[in-house]
Amino acid sequence: MDRYRLHVNGRQREVRVPGDTPLLWALREELGLTGPKYGCGVGACGACVSLVDGQAARPCVRTVEESEHTRITTIEGLSARGDHAVQRAWLELDVAQCGYCQPGQIMAAVALLARTPDPDDEQIAEALRDNVCRCGTYPRIRAAVRRAAE
Ligand code: FES
Repeated sequence: MDRYRLHVNGRQREVRVPGDTPLLWALREELGLTGPKYGCGVGACGACVSLVDGQAARPCVRTVEESEHTRITTIEGLSARGDHAVQRAWLELDVAQCGYCQPGQIMAAVALLARTPDPDDEQIAEALRDNVCRCGTYPRIRAAVRRAAE
């Protein structure tokens, strides 16, 4: 077991895990941050998307070791009361159905809007292309991204 210092949601946190532990496990099991969801574990579904140094990243395919010296933001760190503009848009448009994929969808949208504040439909589709929603909420997701950009 090794010790790793992770900068998560504005705080330094320490975890004691093997260095090759997926960051997603450290977030969920060691730090109790269960916003990032486990879907596929191979970087394909987007359920775990969080921000690493402001970019959308998939913590299921990053190790704890390579995550040291980065700034990690999970959906828990997005806002104090769940009132980030993207979260508000999601609520206003009642996007979620089962909700499982939505933290990853929201974080992917946050990353998109940070680099492209007024994305067109093509840019939204491209940014969220690899975030799977089994309930098929895609039209509401796209509408919520446009709402958050207003
Ligand atoms: Fe990370 Fe699917 S659980 S991309």
